[in-house]
Amino acid sequence: MTVSTPTANKAAARVLSQFVATGVQTCFHGRHINPQILADLDGNNWRLKDYQQRGGYEALRKILALDGGAGLTPDQVIAEVKAGSLRGRGGAGFPTGLKWSFMPRQFPGQKYLVCNSDEGEPGTCKDRDIMQYNPHSVIEGMAIAAYAMGISVGYNYIHGEIFATYQRFEEALEEARTAGFLGTAILGSSFNFQLHASHGFGAYICGEETALLESLEGKKGQPRFKPPFPASFGLYGKPTTINNTETFAAVPWIIRHGGQAYLECGKPNNGGTKIYSVSGDVELPGNYEVPMGTPFSRLLELAGGVRNAKQGRTLKAVIPGGSSSPVLPASIMMNCTMDYDSIAKAGSMLGSGAVIVMDDTRCMVESLKRLSYFYMHESCGQCTPCREGTGWLWRLVSRVHEGRGKPGDMDLLNSVADNIQGRTICALGDAAAMPVRAMIKHFRAEFEAMITNSRAAATASPAGMRMASTEARSI
Ligand SMILES: Cc1cc2nc3c(=O)[nH]c(=O)nc-3n(C[C@H](O)[C@H](O)[C@H](O)COP(=O)(O)O)c2cc1C
Ligand code: SF4
Repeated sequence: MTVSTPTANKAAARVLSQFVATGVQTCFHGRHINPQILADLDGNNWRLKDYQQRGGYEALRKILALDGGAGLTPDQVIAEVKAGSLRGRGGAGFPTGLKWSFMPRQFPGQKYLVCNSDEGEPGTCKDRDIMQYNPHSVIEGMAIAAYAMGISVGYNYIHGEIFATYQRFEEALEEARTAGFLGTAILGSSFNFQLHASHGFGAYICGEETALLESLEGKKGQPRFKPPFPASFGLYGKPTTINNTETFAAVPWIIRHGGQAYLECGKPNNGGTKIYSVSGDVELPGNYEVPMGTPFSRLLELAGGVRNAKQGRTLKAVIPGGSSSPVLPASIMMNCTMDYDSIAKAGSMLGSGAVIVMDDTRCMVESLKRLSYFYMHESCGQCTPCREGTGWLWRLVSRVHEGRGKPGDMDLLNSVADNIQGRTICALGDAAAMPVRAMIKHFRAEFEAMITNSRAAATASPAGMRMASTEARSI
């Protein structure tokens, strides 16, 4: 049991006050480039009146023709989102406008809109900042999406361990309801949209969209077989569209300024800005919003560069899109721009935009051991390759790290990863396998050196060798 002592409380308060005072670890530090979602935030101006001062709810008024304009039809809203090349910020980068067009708008029964605020990918901490400091951007974005797809009920599924953020979002919802931006006959129009917050359960797998739907229905959060996809069989078996928090928060800007303007903020096929959660060995970890296509070197500079560079530390590698995206060595990363296409071309994924920076002191074997432990721990256990394979990966990497590796272990690791990837119900299996393959591809020599050196040390000490072979049999 952990006992909270006055000293521990003081230390926690000191860390927290530093966090709030500098804003560096969060998003109100002013080190963004052309921000759209995080613009002008100071940590306190999250309320409805502040949001409206920043132009909030103008987009909703625009589509409902409440400002003297002609309004936008649902098809026109979808066309703007498509023109802006907004791609889903939850990980896969799927085109949002296209996803919205899959919703069977004329379906006679209830349809649902769901926001995925589960945000469990290690390294990712942007959605909680959006909900904490700019919650109305998500509410307005969801209302616009609901209008575009003819949906009258929505839920925001919020990660279970960020209760203060959940409460903040509830408060913002209440403000929006009272002001007539949510509910029945919104702002006097014929558009109805009821939006509710739902408290998640804190498991990584609940971020997978079908596991999220199960969890939202009150069941165990385990992914469903697909097809059918949520667009035809979603929440309570009804047509459902799910998008990430940041995806929804980007929508009001697109409608206010037009899809073309949004596209021009980024680069072709990668419209607008993206929020990156930069962590690891940098001087100023935090959330940074920059245009799609910004060079990685510029993002690193915004985050203060590699930590202790003056003391000789250099960039070794970067995990560019959250723990499930393949690691890239510094030499490749420094030539990348931060957008879906550039990172994919380099052999990784932009994913959720969690940029984990590793300096030259980082041991790749240890890093992979941690990553593998995470995926083993978070596997929901439904499919054998993932349930068993993630454990194999972790035990294999552990034995290399602990000096009990064997010469064939690299090939064995690759083969276990091969037998997981593409053979599971959901993409958690791929997420566990891909980092392993990338680590071996780029840093094989480091793994092999550890195996060779520890075997040499063990041979020099027969007792050590005996222990090594006994423990190896338990793998
Ligand atoms: C294991 C796993 C965890 C995921 N976690 C999240 C998450 O926390 N937040 C999120 O938005 N998407 C997450 N996703 C992706 C969702 O399944 C889904 O693709 C996304 O919410 C769609 O939104 P978008 O189109 O706006 O990106 C996860 C996927 C997998 C396989
Ligand atoms: S891949 Fe893993 S997490 Fe996904 S359904 Fe299968 S066992 Fe569960």
